[in-house]
Amino acid sequence: MLTPDSIRNVTVDGVAVAVSAGSTMVAAIAASGSLCTRRSVTGQRRFAFCGIGQCQECRVTIDGAVHRLACRTLCRDGMTIVTGDES
Ligand code: FES
Repeated sequence: MLTPDSIRNVTVDGVAVAVSAGSTMVAAIAASGSLCTRRSVTGQRRFAFCGIGQCQECRVTIDGAVHRLACRTLCRDGMTIVTGDES
């Protein structure tokens, strides 16, 4: 059961999203309606693939820190995520 203590509020490309405590950034990005974490060198939209920190497809900017792995980062209240959809 979700309670106020078990909800994390984050912002994905300017969209406010609420997710359950323990959710990764990938879940927050999907909840925002986006399936894009970054862009390839040719501009193609990419999204999380492995979910275990190996493929590097889920790199995003978190609170201004670039190239963070969204699949390996848990959401905390107030986090701001910028994806390749933003560029
Ligand atoms: S989804 Fe593969 S490293 Fe994050």
